[in-house]
Amino acid sequence: MILHLDVNEELLSKFNAIADGLAETGFSVTDGFLSEDEVSAITSLDDFKNGLSHFKKAGIGQQRDKQINESIRGDYIRWLTKAEAPPPLQLYLERIDQLREFINQALFLSLKDAEIHQTIYPIGSFYKRHLDQFKKEDHRKLTIICYLNKNWKEEMGGQLRVYFPSQTQDILPIAGRLICFRSDLLEHEVLPAIHPRLSLTGWLLDTLH
Ligand code: OGA
Ligand code: MN
Repeated sequence: MILHLDVNEELLSKFNAIADGLAETGFSVTDGFLSEDEVSAITSLDDFKNGLSHFKKAGIGQQRDKQINESIRGDYIRWLTKAEAPPPLQLYLERIDQLREFINQALFLSLKDAEIHQTIYPIGSFYKRHLDQFKKEDHRKLTIICYLNKNWKEEMGGQLRVYFPSQTQDILPIAGRLICFRSDLLEHEVLPAIHPRLSLTGWLLDTLH
């Protein structure tokens, strides 16, 4: 199946697991989506190393309605573009494009684009319970987050808490782990952490952005 995608067997089985999770529960967790070396190449880029000075405070809502509200979310972000991203981030953007094509074929969708930002949650910051698709006309269909935190331990906090209909699940933001879920369906939150928490956060869209 899906012959024209240029990905190795290992990656293909990860793509398959993601599509299966989406079909069954609207949610998936995949470890090793980025290898340790791929993660290191990203976290040692100047903008992540220099920390918050290259990032801007994330807001809530879109364009005109956009507000900064520290009591709801405390992360700092930097949007990525294909034209400007350095090679380690290009690699990630390409992998997400491949995943998007795979998901389109496996689940009969026609997702057309991705928007992705680098993210830093400073110590003690959080993102309160929310849904990523907050308006009916929102083009965000799937949320895709890859974590970049080596040696992250339970006691450090920073879990992604996902609210399923009958239970919650807490996921540690460990390096290379990819989370993918239905943006219109699953409420979630980010718990505060005792270390800065790094990730690549994005959405697959049903339109070109
Ligand atoms: C978001 C978000 C979760 C995470 O940016 O909308 O919910 O685990 N992020 O970083
Ligand atoms: Mn979210």
